[in-house]
Amino acid sequence: MSEIPNTEDTSTRSGKLMSWFDKRTGIKELTHEALDEPIPGGARLAYVFGSGLLYILLSQIITGIFLAMYYVASADHAHTTVAYITKAVTGGSFVRSLHSYGSSAMVVTLVVHLAQTYFWGAYKGRRELLWLSGLILFALVIGMAFTGYLLPWDQKAYFATAVGTNIAGEMPIIGDWLKRLMRGGTEMGTLTLSRFFVAHVFLIPAFIFTFVGTHVFLFRKAGSAGPIKADPIEPKMKTEQFYPKQVVYDIVFATILVGILGLLSYLSPAELGPKANPADTQFMPRPEWYYLPIFQWLKYWSGPNVVIGIVVIPAIIIGCLALLPFYDRKHQRKPWKRPIAIGSFLLVLGSLVFLGWQSGNDDARDTTTAKQLAKQAAETEAFIKAKFEPELAGSSLASQNIELADPLAAKGKKLFTDNSCDGCHGDNGTGTDAGPKLLGIGEKYNHDALLNLLKTPTQKMKDGNMDPVELPDDQMNALLAYLNSLK
Ligand code: HEC
Repeated sequence: MSEIPNTEDTSTRSGKLMSWFDKRTGIKELTHEALDEPIPGGARLAYVFGSGLLYILLSQIITGIFLAMYYVASADHAHTTVAYITKAVTGGSFVRSLHSYGSSAMVVTLVVHLAQTYFWGAYKGRRELLWLSGLILFALVIGMAFTGYLLPWDQKAYFATAVGTNIAGEMPIIGDWLKRLMRGGTEMGTLTLSRFFVAHVFLIPAFIFTFVGTHVFLFRKAGSAGPIKADPIEPKMKTEQFYPKQVVYDIVFATILVGILGLLSYLSPAELGPKANPADTQFMPRPEWYYLPIFQWLKYWSGPNVVIGIVVIPAIIIGCLALLPFYDRKHQRKPWKRPIAIGSFLLVLGSLVFLGWQSGNDDARDTTTAKQLAKQAAETEAFIKAKFEPELAGSSLASQNIELADPLAAKGKKLFTDNSCDGCHGDNGTGTDAGPKLLGIGEKYNHDALLNLLKTPTQKMKDGNMDPVELPDDQMNALLAYLNSLK
């Protein structure tokens, strides 16, 4: 590493101030460390992806802080607050779109960064920990994408996360526990939302900051690997300092990213569908595009084989990737001289692209699916176009929306319709000619009395053709929770 240039000049006032500051902070050495990093073979546009990721991270933090100012992580308010950001706040839709497209940009740039490191053999030569910290960052970003997806609490957020947590539930041994941990119970509700929110804004970011720090530190320690001709440990190529040329390249790339994200956000703002309705049995969830290959992959595994699909094969691929710099010890970096490494990477990447394409293809070919998806898209569009509607506290809306606050009652609501109670008592228990309204029933009877009444109906109820309700205990509980919620 080159010497710190001696620019000490205490003859001017600013020079004196600089010197005062430097003695207390060591700022000169820090900037020297940061900016004079030697790059073997010189600065290149090809090296912009790592710093591009830092830039996107910064953008996600800023837009995320903005969104968090309005957001309320509770099942009965989350959707309204996101609708408020999207429809009522000046520039709100734009910032939310930046955040949403930013997550896609992050995944794309990460894959490019990883592929480049892989193809260029830049993980070789004492870079094992650098590589591992990079993979951990990848996993953390995927976690951010997963937890962020639920937060708007619209139909697709709710049902896609239901699928995601169900998949986790399929894991052997820890599956059930993992699913409960993620959901904060057996059903999805406010507890789920609050867990995802905490993971998304506190927990995972804390790990991301730690590992970004580690990753950059380890990168600086190992030094830039340089072009594929360079030896990964002792590059003999002429070096060029990071500043100014590479800094300029990095800024150019960041500017291009700003342009793309801004343009996309302006031309095609992020969507928001109608509020999640857990009782909806028709809804067909589709994950964010970068999860589609996995979504498709899981279709091929069922029954006892599911373990192979969701644990064994992914574990093998991830294991091979993680241990790569430990077993691939040759210093050869030229891709055409590493056919096995490059071949297997292309195979996995190709399979993912194929699965993603297949997923879209499946949806387009099956007419019922295509119809339902089109209907959902139309509902989303209609919701986005509608004027913002604040929540009405204490109105009958509250009883209709109870499912959002209380997952048990949501289950009960479904039982209420499945057992045709609504046939006589009307939608949401509002009453018909064949049966009285059930609003306020929870105040009329206590829990046991109501339970008793359902199990052994009065003569009048029997005269009205109401049968005794015979359901297993847990379902009975859900039904009662729902009846109690009718106000
Ligand atoms: C065939 C029509 C019918 C169906 C189906 C039906 N009920 Fe009823 N239900 C009635 C009638 C009629 C009464 C009121 C009798 C009376 O006037 O007291 C009643 C009364 C009740 C009451 C007591 C209301 C009160 O204020 O005392 C409850 C609670 C109730 N039903 C719940 C249910 C539930 C839960 C279901 C579904 C499992 C259901 N009912 C299905 C017709 C029906």
